[in-house]
Amino acid sequence: MGRYPRPWTDRVGHDGRNGKVVPMSHQTPATDRPLTTALAEAAATAGHAPSVHNTQPWRWRVLPDALELRVVRDRQLTAADPEGRLLALSCGAALHHARVALAAEGWTAVVERLPDPQQPDLLARLTGLTPAGADPDAMRLVQCMQVRHTDRRPVSDEPVPAEVVDDITRAADDEGARLQILDADQVMELAATASHAGTVEAEDPQTREELQYWTHRADTGTGLPPEVLPQDQPQTTVPARDFGSPGNLPVGPGHDKAAVYGLLYGDEDEPDSWLEAGEALSALWLTATRHGVSVVPLSGVVEVPGTRQKLRQLLSGLGYPYLVLRIGLADPAHAGPPHTPRLPAAQVVDTSAVRDQRS
Ligand SMILES: Cc1cc2nc3c(=O)[nH]c(=O)nc-3n(C[C@H](O)[C@H](O)[C@H](O)COP(=O)(O)O)c2cc1C
Repeated sequence: MGRYPRPWTDRVGHDGRNGKVVPMSHQTPATDRPLTTALAEAAATAGHAPSVHNTQPWRWRVLPDALELRVVRDRQLTAADPEGRLLALSCGAALHHARVALAAEGWTAVVERLPDPQQPDLLARLTGLTPAGADPDAMRLVQCMQVRHTDRRPVSDEPVPAEVVDDITRAADDEGARLQILDADQVMELAATASHAGTVEAEDPQTREELQYWTHRADTGTGLPPEVLPQDQPQTTVPARDFGSPGNLPVGPGHDKAAVYGLLYGDEDEPDSWLEAGEALSALWLTATRHGVSVVPLSGVVEVPGTRQKLRQLLSGLGYPYLVLRIGLADPAHAGPPHTPRLPAAQVVDTSAVRDQRS
């Protein structure tokens, strides 16, 4: 296994870095390969998933007939995320990536979330793997995994078409979380709340230190390199996260007036709902990528308990907020940031239990 298999890269049709992914005319499933190979490759493909500060806090174990996902506590943000909400969201995104990669290879799976109360770090087990024929929609989403990235520049002046916003919302819904698109007044409230969260975090030495750590270690395959962080704070309606030190990414003069802001939320504030919310995040982000739409998560406002409570009020107490998202059309005129690095698959996927069974 290489760094990350990009099985369809040479057949990905997309009009530039920020362009739409174009459906391919023919695709080749590979269900004739051993199951353990498909499991290992799905786990490796899941390495493309987004994670808070690019912490990639997951580890996979390939078994003869199952795939297990465990959290890596060493990469939890202890200052910004002591409860592990964003940790579980990140792992949920990786879980959805793996599920989709398996479906693209022609496997259906039963997903057991938090299957063993004695092992809280075992987040999910994919079992009951049955050949089902490659799913073309899943194959397209695997292409999107290789294109998706976080683009923190202001979005274009073109609004996102309403039917695309509906599609993105539906993708979250199908995975058991909800996305509320905020109206103009709610966006103003969100802006004030996010600004307050930014101040609280900037004044907290532990959060500052944590941010400093994750923005100065990209040579390890985790964290955020300067190339993906804005040179100057972009002009946005809702303040973006201040990463503490400027990056190298030119932001241009634009403003994200045409962006919409959404709040991902659900009925419970527990690890299993955070995991599912991460699956929903992956589903909606891949759907957005398919439409050439950029998504930027804003989690500072969820990290600070007081501002998280404010978000609950925005939802009129109807649910628990997991993440705020900025959704907009990416700037088509200028190249976006490069891909953020990832850990080598060998560090993330444990195949020792099946080493002799893989081709
Ligand atoms: C739960 C979660 C929270 C995130 N919070 C923020 C954020 O507050 N600000 C931001 O700019 N990016 C945020 N991100 C984006 C990550 O930094 C990004 O996914 C990661 O660096 C990997 O880069 P990529 O998305 O380009 O692959 C978040 C991502 C996740 C999954």
